[in-house]
Amino acid sequence: MKKFSFGIIGLGTMGGNFILNINDHGFSVAGYDKDKVKTDALNAERSTDLFEAFSSLPAFMDSLETPRNIILLVPAGKVVDIVINELKPYWGDNDVIIDCGNSHFTDTQRRVDELSGEKIHFMGMGISGGETGARYGASIMPGGDREAHARIAPMLNAVCAKVDGEPCTAYMGNGAAGHYVKMVHNGIEYAIMQTLSECYHLMKVYGQMSNAEIQQTFDAWNKGRLQSFLVEITAAIFKQPDDLKSGELVDSILDTAAQKGTGAWTSQDAANVASPIPVIDAAVSQRIISAMRAQRQIAAKQFPAEASEVAVNKEALLKQLEAALYSTYIVCYAQGFQMLANASEEYKYNISLSSVASIWRGGCIIRAAMLVKIKEAFAQDADLKNIMLNDFFAKELNEAKASFKSVVSQALATGIPVPALSSALNYYLSYHSGWLPANVIQAQRDFFGAHTYQRNDREGTFHTNWNQTIH
Ligand code: 6PG
Repeated sequence: MKKFSFGIIGLGTMGGNFILNINDHGFSVAGYDKDKVKTDALNAERSTDLFEAFSSLPAFMDSLETPRNIILLVPAGKVVDIVINELKPYWGDNDVIIDCGNSHFTDTQRRVDELSGEKIHFMGMGISGGETGARYGASIMPGGDREAHARIAPMLNAVCAKVDGEPCTAYMGNGAAGHYVKMVHNGIEYAIMQTLSECYHLMKVYGQMSNAEIQQTFDAWNKGRLQSFLVEITAAIFKQPDDLKSGELVDSILDTAAQKGTGAWTSQDAANVASPIPVIDAAVSQRIISAMRAQRQIAAKQFPAEASEVAVNKEALLKQLEAALYSTYIVCYAQGFQMLANASEEYKYNISLSSVASIWRGGCIIRAAMLVKIKEAFAQDADLKNIMLNDFFAKELNEAKASFKSVVSQALATGIPVPALSSALNYYLSYHSGWLPANVIQAQRDFFGAHTYQRNDREGTFHTNWNQTIH
């Protein structure tokens, strides 16, 4: 009996599409899912004997070449552990098991450690690009066992997205590096999505623009330096008709954003690796505030909005808004990449930031023209502390600064919340402030807790008996 080179466990949307993608590239692949409806549906699509879907685990395991290459596309969390345990009685020497869900990096690290004494190799691999990516080419972020990666790399190089002929996959680093990079990807995804929603808010409420005008604006931006998947789909959203009534669908969608947690994970670990990511934090908080709809409805009555009397010059606003969005994009990537650099050091991942920028250029949700420049920046200087220090990005931010400040001021003066745009601006302003008022914080700490401070005119550690007048 002919054996298959790869096996996929979990034939839901991602697994079902991935199996077809692998197959399209000439690799033989078997799939396994307990749900016979899914396996029957896939087998019905079969036009070659290069793939087959099984609903029996022993038959599936037996259908694979040894050592086996098994890809898990099952929901992150407990299910991954359950599946690994189910595989145990069947696995053989040097089998490779690759978890491709959105697993928390600490779960991946735990599994790497727990399975390190076993005869198999375990890897964590982030995949971005949703259904279309799984089917036609995603950005693939593998990490962990290098030997195992070398074995599956030819297949990954074939099935991933390509930019200028280069594959959007590369080995990300040790341990849970693949899932860590994917987590930060999602943090950036949250931040950019929030920023785009704020631009929409400004255009709709402050600029009094119609959906058609908003669509044209995003579309025009997508043809310039802001070219990116998220700007592209945001433009498209504004011309989708409502299938249940007249007008555009976007106006009928309830204003509460859901989340599965990956953005919040990024915020949670940023503190552990001492990496400020305020735009991502703001995006996570804003999804939560959006979901507090009932409270917002009550508060809206208690704090009525002031009517804006400002006559807005639309053309000028849009020019400034483009610059503010562009600056925030730079800041979002700056924060994400700096977090990856810190985490790489803290967790000994050995991540190459230029490889990350390279594989995020295509296939993934945060793909953007700007990543070409970010890749160049890290290729020039692998130790670059922050992309805002790179000459190109510093120049771009300087040129956009006046517009960036103006947009945030106008929004706040009008009472329009812009947490992502404003925290990006605050981060940028703080980052290039040669002096910050933290001397007062040190004085306060020393005042109430004798925590000591350092001086700016001599070496040493100091404590003062402050002129205590407070009882
Ligand atoms: C991707 C996405 C994907 C993620 C969704 C939903 O890269 O393809 O990041 O992995 O699951 O974007 O995330 P939320 O439900 O948390 O918005």
